[in-house]
Amino acid sequence: MEEKQEQVVSMPRIGDPAPAFKAVTTQGEINFPADYKGEWVILFSHPADFTPVCTSEFMTFASMEKQFDQANCKLVGLSVDGLYSHIAWLRTIKEKIEYKGMKDVEVKFPLIEDITMNVANLYGMIQPGEDNTKAVRAVFFIDPKGIIRTIIYYPLSLGRNFDEIYRVLVALQTADQFGIATPADWRPGDDVIVPPAGSCGSAKDRMDAKEDDMHCYDWFFCTKKLDKEKVLDAVLKK
Ligand code: BEZ
Repeated sequence: MEEKQEQVVSMPRIGDPAPAFKAVTTQGEINFPADYKGEWVILFSHPADFTPVCTSEFMTFASMEKQFDQANCKLVGLSVDGLYSHIAWLRTIKEKIEYKGMKDVEVKFPLIEDITMNVANLYGMIQPGEDNTKAVRAVFFIDPKGIIRTIIYYPLSLGRNFDEIYRVLVALQTADQFGIATPADWRPGDDVIVPPAGSCGSAKDRMDAKEDDMHCYDWFFCTKKLDKEKVLDAVLKK
């Protein structure tokens, strides 16, 4: 059943509800983001099937799918190619490509066909200064309530860092679970930043209420320990 979707060009922002759409994928139809309520989902675009940077990215992301699933996060890909191109490309990857120790890689997450560019335009993935007819490498992190929490864009020539994408997911979940912020280059086990003044009373209140394991570099910059085990326990499925 083919449902007509209006062509809307928009540029969603952090904090916005993820724009809703229905689409055909390599794993059947999806109703986004409703189908992912209660879990995190990363919606990401690539410029074109059968291209080298995208192939290296898909092999890497597919190899990490279990790791993302453990952190309650599903993956959904998109390009403005058609379904049969997607299927042929993913089959080629599985049957023929051996790259950096990865082989026989099966992409099990859905890959949206978007030949009309409806979804790509709805998510601001077509950025004409880069390319009029291909999606840039966009990454949207959408939380269990369907809110966009982080957006990263890369140009056509630059393959993504999937360790960073996983780090962002874990940092977002850690911030939500523990009411903290994460400093530059944070990884689980590193100290975290206690909420800045304004979000939990005055600076004086905060200095007075200083916990034992808190370290203040100045009134506006305090950190505390957060064990790696506590982070992993909160983020990873049991
Ligand atoms: C690539 O994935 O290799 C690629 C795709 C589109 C433009 C440039 C590179």
